[in-house]
Amino acid sequence: MAQLWGGRFTKETDQLVYNFNASISFDQKFYRQDIEGSIAHVCMLGKQGILTKEEMQAIVKTLDEIRSDVEEGRLAITDEYEDIHSFVEANLIDRLGDTGKKLHTGRSRNDQVALDMRLYTRLEVLYTDTLVKELLEELLKLMEEHTETIMPGFTHLQKAQPITLAHHLGAYFEMFKRDRSRLRDIYARMNVCPLGAGALAGTTYPLDRDYTAELMGFAGPTLNSMDSVSDRDYVIEFLSALSTIMMHLSRFCEEIIIWNSNEYQFVEIDDAYSTGSSIMPQKKNPDIAELVRGKTGRVYGALLSILTTMKGIPLAYNKDMQEDKELTFDAIDTVKGCLALFTGMISTMTFHADRMSESARHGFTNATDAADYLVNHGVPFRDAHGIVGRVVLYCLERGIAIDDMSLDELKSICPVFEEDIYDAISMESCVNRRLTIGAPGKEAMEQVIAIEKEYLAHDWQDEDGIVQGMAHGCEEM
Ligand code: ARG
Repeated sequence: MAQLWGGRFTKETDQLVYNFNASISFDQKFYRQDIEGSIAHVCMLGKQGILTKEEMQAIVKTLDEIRSDVEEGRLAITDEYEDIHSFVEANLIDRLGDTGKKLHTGRSRNDQVALDMRLYTRLEVLYTDTLVKELLEELLKLMEEHTETIMPGFTHLQKAQPITLAHHLGAYFEMFKRDRSRLRDIYARMNVCPLGAGALAGTTYPLDRDYTAELMGFAGPTLNSMDSVSDRDYVIEFLSALSTIMMHLSRFCEEIIIWNSNEYQFVEIDDAYSTGSSIMPQKKNPDIAELVRGKTGRVYGALLSILTTMKGIPLAYNKDMQEDKELTFDAIDTVKGCLALFTGMISTMTFHADRMSESARHGFTNATDAADYLVNHGVPFRDAHGIVGRVVLYCLERGIAIDDMSLDELKSICPVFEEDIYDAISMESCVNRRLTIGAPGKEAMEQVIAIEKEYLAHDWQDEDGIVQGMAHGCEEM
């Protein structure tokens, strides 16, 4: 048991208590961030004259060595330490003796862990955003290819009106675009530095909190030390954004599963992204899509868990908050995995344009347009609706589409129909006359594609001047 405390205790910690309390098995995930934060802290202590320049340089150098020893497998993180903070500090003291013992001056594990978690999730916001961007790039490619691929649009999973595949994919484009904008907002809001808050009430040392914030690329220090150590809103916001991403992926997966089914055959998932059955030789199953859909619950679970953990915690730090980590890490890794696999799946999938357009033609998806035709010839809409209803019934009894009816047949139901009805209700004209921005018509769609292209050409990660990575600048002091 290697702990950072014990002076006021007269008994050893019970082993079960030690194990229950320890967090090293999971907080080692942010060893880099813990070391980065310590380097920034020590640089500041040096700058403020709280440590000598020599002490500062020795500690920074040794922390760097500990980091590369862990990274290159020379130093193992083992569970003989209570948490990652103890591991780093104990190793520093082993290597530097008394100088190492000065690292924790003016700091508490409460502001330290608040910083580590923030640094870790802040970086993961960027990784997640990049994966969503890659998915958007793939979607846009498909949209450009399929502005003329007609398919049925559905409501209630019943064929409704013809649209194009580009238009359908474009709906998901909007969803994932909103996901990115959420990530951008979250990043900006979480980008303040809690280091220097101490245990809860700041410290008596003349810390320069602006300086540590700047070293780590934060917009500035947090403004209330109690809030600094007990705020996990950014975890909740990130998990909420991740849950929304999963909800979008899951809806998309559900559609792909339907489209890939034997009955629809709108798409065929590539062999590389499908699996077989151990007993039924004919099977090729959409397991990846099903798994992404399935993993959505687990990400929602992480969000619900942290919301519940936080709801009864009095200010300031309480150990409950250690529960912010495991499920969050799991959710982040899950979402990143799902995004990468999903992008791979859709970029290798075959779209059967012929099956889609046949399906649109045989589902009365042009019935609204037939009614609009009558309206344009002076029939009140409610009457036109009734007439076309009778046309549909006529077709259903004979197993044909509206455009399969002869003009005489159409006229027998309503004399207003003329030869030009066939053109008015062809799938192509149904789609391409819908030209308001946001509609599926080819020209409207091309306008939107140009906007999306422009959107992808600019990246908020460049525009917002994001600084990430190890604390920099203090080595030269
Ligand atoms: N492992 C702890 C956590 O994750 C670190 C902070 C410990 N602070 C304390 N006062 N016990 O929250």
